[in-house]
Parts: sequence; structure tokens; C-alpha cells
Amino acid sequence: MKHPLGKVEEIPDQGSKIVDFFGRSVHLYKVDGKPKAVANTCMHFGGPLEMNDCKFVCAWHGAQFDASNGQRVDGPAPSQSKLMFLSTRIEEDVLYYVWGE
Ligand code: FES
Repeated sequence: MKHPLGKVEEIPDQGSKIVDFFGRSVHLYKVDGKPKAVANTCMHFGGPLEMNDCKFVCAWHGAQFDASNGQRVDGPAPSQSKLMFLSTRIEEDVLYYVWGE
């Protein structure tokens, strides 16, 4: 399965761009220039996340996650929890979600 998430040139160097992914929300952003895609879902109770500097912060109860690896760094989400990254590949300047290839 392969599904386009967005053009790489439209992913900001600072902050993130939120796109629809089969009715769910995904953040596209870059770490050291490399595009990443992560579900806009807090690991506490599923609240929406905002990217702030190099962290994702939950709007509901303030959980914080490291944007580089998704690891929870503060707040009420379980200490070992980690955000859900999508497996991706770039082809012709488009970032694709890929699965099972
Ligand atoms: S749902 Fe995100 S901190 Fe509670």
C-alpha cells in the first residue's frame, strides 16, 4: 500500500503541517531536514497535539513528546509511551505513507 501525504517542499522547516490521513490527522514536519509523519494523537487520551519548538504538546492535559523520536518527556501520558509514526518513503518530491511493500 502506498498513499501520498504531501509534497516535501510544502513541509515546513519549522513547525508542522497537518494533513488528513483517511479521516485522521497527521503532522508532517522535519527533523534535521528529514521529513517525518506522526499521528496527531496524544498517548494519554488521544488529544490533539501542537508542535512547539522540538516538542509536541497536547492541548488537553499538557503531555509533551520529543519530536525527534516521539518519546513522552512530560505530563500525564505513560512514561514509556511514544507517538505513532507512519512508515514513509519519498518518491519524486512526494512523501508517501507505505505499508507492506
Ligand atoms: S489527552 Fe493528551 S495529555 Fe491528556
